[in-house]
Amino acid sequence: MISWKKNLTSSIGKKFVTGITGLLLVSFVIVHLIGNLLLYAGPDAFNSYAYFLEHRLIHGWAVYVADAMLILFFGAHAVAGISVWQKKRLARPQPYYQAGNAGGASRKSFASRTMIVSGLVILVFVILHVRMFKFGPTATVVVDGIEMRDLYTLVVSTFKVWWISFAYMAVMVLLGLHLRHGIWSAFQSVGATSPRYQPVIYVGGVTLSILIGLGFFLLPLVILFFYENPALSMGGI
Ligand code: HEM
Repeated sequence: MISWKKNLTSSIGKKFVTGITGLLLVSFVIVHLIGNLLLYAGPDAFNSYAYFLEHRLIHGWAVYVADAMLILFFGAHAVAGISVWQKKRLARPQPYYQAGNAGGASRKSFASRTMIVSGLVILVFVILHVRMFKFGPTATVVVDGIEMRDLYTLVVSTFKVWWISFAYMAVMVLLGLHLRHGIWSAFQSVGATSPRYQPVIYVGGVTLSILIGLGFFLLPLVILFFYENPALSMGGI
């Protein structure tokens, strides 16, 4: 009998791990985007939402559970993804002379050929992003009698720095590209290979990747050009 450890560390097992963790991370990214859209609703809405997540949801436990799961999923996704890429590279040190569709369920594209690059950039981005916002210096505000972190001011004043906003926008294009191939590929890796559903999965994945990429892309853009810079009562970013 083959052990589950052997199964997960085989090529197919690693693809499965990349696929399932990728789909779970896509769910997180969608929820995160919807939450961030509250930046358009103003400081009280955004700060209260962040406060609710951090202190009220499952009595404040949700954030610990979510963080532990995110670290596990991001870690497993990156390790399995890099390992699959390395194995492919060793099997074919020279790239294909001509890039093209290999036929059948193959969906080769610029996005699929640059998954390792976009993935590594997103990994570095997430580390810097969490340091910047989750552990960034926030003042506090009082909303409805409750004292909470003024994350709204931190985010808006950060995106008022033009090069940070442009760097965010560039990464969001890469995120869109990563998801463009990633969502499709993840469904293949977890076994959703029925030819009947292929077109739906492909078109659905591409549409979702555009919506997610564009949604995140517009936030720094709109804030940079259309928001007032909140008076900074803190010493920098
Ligand atoms: C314009 C885009 C974005 C904005 C404005 C934004 C905003 C924020 C803020 C304010 C926090 C801190 C939440 C808190 O401390 O309660 C946060 C955390 C986080 N963000 Fe983003 N985010 C953006 C894009 C992204 C993207 C694209 C990813 C992933 C690919 C991402 C992943 C994370 C993660 C993993 C955390 C830590 C989660 C937690 O523990 O609360 N963010 N983000």
